[in-house]
Amino acid sequence: MRFILSFLFVVTVIPALKAQTPAPATSTTPAGNAQNGKKIFSNYGCYQCHGFEAQGGAGARLAPRPIAFTAFSKYVRQPTGEMPPYTSRVVSDKELADIYAFLQSIPQPPPASSIPLLSK
Ligand code: HEC
Repeated sequence: MRFILSFLFVVTVIPALKAQTPAPATSTTPAGNAQNGKKIFSNYGCYQCHGFEAQGGAGARLAPRPIAFTAFSKYVRQPTGEMPPYTSRVVSDKELADIYAFLQSIPQPPPASSIPLLSK
């Protein structure tokens, strides 16, 4: 009887409890503070290679439309090219989230066709 009861508990109660816990957020992008991110981006020297608006220069273009956060943080921690690595002791995870929020906040440029000088 005890076996049957515990069996019933496992097949009915546990799934019911699980169903009540909210699904984890599908996005892995943490919420960051774009204003602080902008400051860090220049204070930590990212701008020296990537430009003040992250438009690229010696380094890659990072915005608008930055790569996914997981790829972004992985690259900053363990770059595979010319870029120096930034460990979490230099740029914390929170600061990384703030930089990412700043990159996300950078607007798309207007289409070239909307600029009169370029459509002549
Ligand atoms: C000394 C120059 C330099 C500095 C400083 C620098 N980067 Fe880079 N970064 C690069 C270069 C060059 C690349 C292109 C790939 C490579 O050669 O590593 C790159 C690539 C990246 C990429 C990958 C882009 C992609 O599309 O794959 C990310 C993300 C990035 N940098 C973020 C940062 C952040 C955030 C900082 C500041 C904490 C920073 N970088 C500071 C030179 C730099």
